[in-house]
Amino acid sequence: MSLLKLSVNNLRNLKDVEIKPSPRFNLIVGPNASGKTSLLEAIYLLGFAKSFRTSNPKKIINHQQDELTVFGQIGQQSDRVMPVAIRRSRKELQIKLDNRMLRKRSELSLTLPLQIINPESHRILELGPKFRRHYLDWGVFHVEHRFLQAWKDYFHILKQRNAALRHFVTNGIVRAWDEGLIEKADVINHYRCGYLQQLAPIFEKIGREVFDMNTLSIEYRPGWPKEQIYSDALNLSLERDKASGYTHCGPHRSDIDIKIAGQPALEFASRGQQKLIITALKLAQVALLKERTGKNCPVLVDDLASELDQKNRAKLLQALDNLGTQVFITMTEQSLVDMDGIRDKKMFHVKQGTIKEVA
Ligand SMILES: Nc1ncnc2c1ncn2[C@@H]1O[C@H](COP(=O)(O)OP(=O)(O)OP(=O)(O)O)[C@@H](O)[C@H]1O
Ligand SMILES: [Mg+2]
Repeated sequence: MSLLKLSVNNLRNLKDVEIKPSPRFNLIVGPNASGKTSLLEAIYLLGFAKSFRTSNPKKIINHQQDELTVFGQIGQQSDRVMPVAIRRSRKELQIKLDNRMLRKRSELSLTLPLQIINPESHRILELGPKFRRHYLDWGVFHVEHRFLQAWKDYFHILKQRNAALRHFVTNGIVRAWDEGLIEKADVINHYRCGYLQQLAPIFEKIGREVFDMNTLSIEYRPGWPKEQIYSDALNLSLERDKASGYTHCGPHRSDIDIKIAGQPALEFASRGQQKLIITALKLAQVALLKERTGKNCPVLVDDLASELDQKNRAKLLQALDNLGTQVFITMTEQSLVDMDGIRDKKMFHVKQGTIKEVA
């Protein structure tokens, strides 16, 4: 899917903006505080119905207004165009897709999958496992449509088991939840492992061929000791679970190890390398999504120049070009990248909340 038209009203300093992006490259240039990240935030809202900067809607609605709206037309160029609209007040969120009100964000995400690479992206390496699980599950969710339900079922049972643990019931009552938990954990584990097996070679290839990093690797940690089967791990941790009132083992504790030259990327890679590693991870997901489902996933790159020297900026641009998907790139100066070799591009200038396409 590509975003073929975008209108934004009252999102931060973007009071009334309309653009017709290129289905391929879109370069958004403007000084600090002009509204570039806000424009990406508007696009992100169309795919996720939430911001990547804050969970507080009050912060993204223009201070002088009560609500914001973002409207988009999405489709492949020759396809039928589908309207999507988000209306967000301080209290209420309305999502309309193809003239139908949606209750679930997940349906929206399936229609307009999006990836974002921004100056905070490298933090996925240093933040808790939750953020890396979130990265992994984004991909699994998009290619395995039964994954979300398995995850919801697993979480439901996990909550019951944790409640039993907290109420000092007998081992038998706690164990009564285990069968269902194990069954759902198996499904989740199966999907995640299968997905990662397909993702790893693509990630390593992008690292090697685009970013000159030969020794990248990614490995799944299921959330319990690898040498054990899950049912044994649950049994072995029962006493510990009872003492702390929650379940220590399971897919809710899984993680991924991201390494360079056999060392954790967080400790070994420079900041610029970290950005490239995360970029390779995200682009690998975009490539795999296209391979498995035929879907094009637009990529938002906020402040492309941050942390990257000229050579790596050019490499990132090349990697984005190779993907063949729609791209939105923001930067403060046009001269930071050489776009000469890029076809199907449009450039937009942002100035104090207004956006103009430039020839
Ligand atoms: N709720 C709001 N209402 C009105 N203006 C806001 C609101 N939230 C933020 N702003 C302002 O919107 C402007 C645009 O912010 P934005 O982060 O999009 O800038 P930017 O172009 O990405 O800048 P930079 O290059 O520094 O990253 C800023 O001046 C900011 O203070
Ligand atoms: Mg910004």
